[in-house]
Amino acid sequence: MPDPERILTDDMVAAIKAYFPRYPSRQAVTLPALHIVNAELRHVPLQAVVEVAELLELSPAQVQDTLTFYGFFKQETAHGEIRAWVCRSVSCHLRGADEVLDHFCDQAHIKPGETTGDGKLTIEYAECLGACEHAPCILANETLHKCVSKEDVDSLLQSIK
Ligand code: FES
Repeated sequence: MPDPERILTDDMVAAIKAYFPRYPSRQAVTLPALHIVNAELRHVPLQAVVEVAELLELSPAQVQDTLTFYGFFKQETAHGEIRAWVCRSVSCHLRGADEVLDHFCDQAHIKPGETTGDGKLTIEYAECLGACEHAPCILANETLHKCVSKEDVDSLLQSIK
């Protein structure tokens, strides 16, 4: 009978185990495992860290060290269904990223790092997204929005509602 306290589903465990043959050690699977959990839960709670550690034959502290090294993973609360990264590096900055970010946050009624009350959107800062020639850029989940104007932000918000 499944343990009701467990967070990792059978599918998550299978997806993590599928990485084992592709890496030289189980420890090397830590980051892919965290991404698998995050993709499902939109955060990686402590209980998930404990279960990932068990699977990888590591201590929870080792997995937690990796998790906290990257700002990417949230632990306390889930990020929104859409996680929008607004680039603030130099090319985007010079082409109006600050105004885009301010407008985005104003219209969504949140600050950078926060999630809307309906859980649909999280807005965050990003460093260079690797598309400087299209500055300013927003990465919303897997979609890169290029040469973003305030009107584009309005359209993006409309599509999220
Ligand atoms: S500076 Fe924004 S994509 Fe490179």
